[in-house]
Amino acid sequence: MNEQLHALVEHTIAQGVGARVFALRWENRRIWVKQAVPAKQKVWHRLQRFGANITGIPMLRPTVSPGGKEGLESEAAVLRKLSALGILVPDLIDVGENWIAIGDNGGILQTLIDEDLHKGDEGAVKNRVIDAGTALAGLHESGLAHGAPLLRNMTIRDDGKIGFIDFEEDPNARMPIVDAQARDILLFVFSIQREFKKRPELLRAGWQAYVAAAGNNAPQLVPLRKVIRLLRPVYLILRPFRRWLGTDALNGLWAYRTLRKSLYQA
Ligand SMILES: Nc1ncnc2c1ncn2[C@@H]1O[C@H](COP(=O)(O)OP(=O)(O)O)[C@@H](O)[C@H]1O
Ligand SMILES: [Mg+2]
Repeated sequence: MNEQLHALVEHTIAQGVGARVFALRWENRRIWVKQAVPAKQKVWHRLQRFGANITGIPMLRPTVSPGGKEGLESEAAVLRKLSALGILVPDLIDVGENWIAIGDNGGILQTLIDEDLHKGDEGAVKNRVIDAGTALAGLHESGLAHGAPLLRNMTIRDDGKIGFIDFEEDPNARMPIVDAQARDILLFVFSIQREFKKRPELLRAGWQAYVAAAGNNAPQLVPLRKVIRLLRPVYLILRPFRRWLGTDALNGLWAYRTLRKSLYQA
């Protein structure tokens, strides 16, 4: 452990930084410090586990972060593994009692997309979504899953390479890898849907880029197709009530519809 860095981090935290994750300057570069959080194990998670058990879909198992030191250690371990496999993730600089310090991984994809949208550059938005889908397939190719591959947990380096941050929800240990990867795909397309409400073509672009890179016969598409099939009755039941549904439920319905069409059109 680096004592100077340790002192700097402890001092900054003692001053009250106001955020759990914060940036610091260290050895002439920007680094990020991530503090531990208490684990969240709520009623909802128990319900979710119950749902996963009765439907026999491991993908539905809750992947709640272990929290505390254990959570940080699990994130550190995933960072080491992925970086050894050539995936662009932050380098692990130091691990403290209640925090980890990691390198800067580039700009946040979600933020850059928001800037493109502001400029009205539709082509750039679509290309970024395509790059993101391709990069997620690349991460899966390495044999691991991310846990929360949302656009705000994806980064872009100056040279355009897409990277990943935020590995607290490690799904790898909780379900078979293909299920964890299928879950990643759902979360990824859902994050596109959430961000760009009535733009099913963007969701489709992200999805198609993923499939083009992973291959139509990728094993993780099997549990994905299964879960989409099982969701069909839920979709049909909820559709007439869409006027009264909340935003998340509506986004879910939209994402489901686009995904289902894409899955069965080929
Ligand atoms: N290595 C990093 N490179 C660039 N930005 C980072 C990095 N780590 C954290 N951030 C910034 O801090 C935010 C929160 O970090 P994250 O690891 O996603 O934690 P959480 O989403 O659990 O709060 C990110 O959305 C990003 O803006
Ligand atoms: Mg995050």
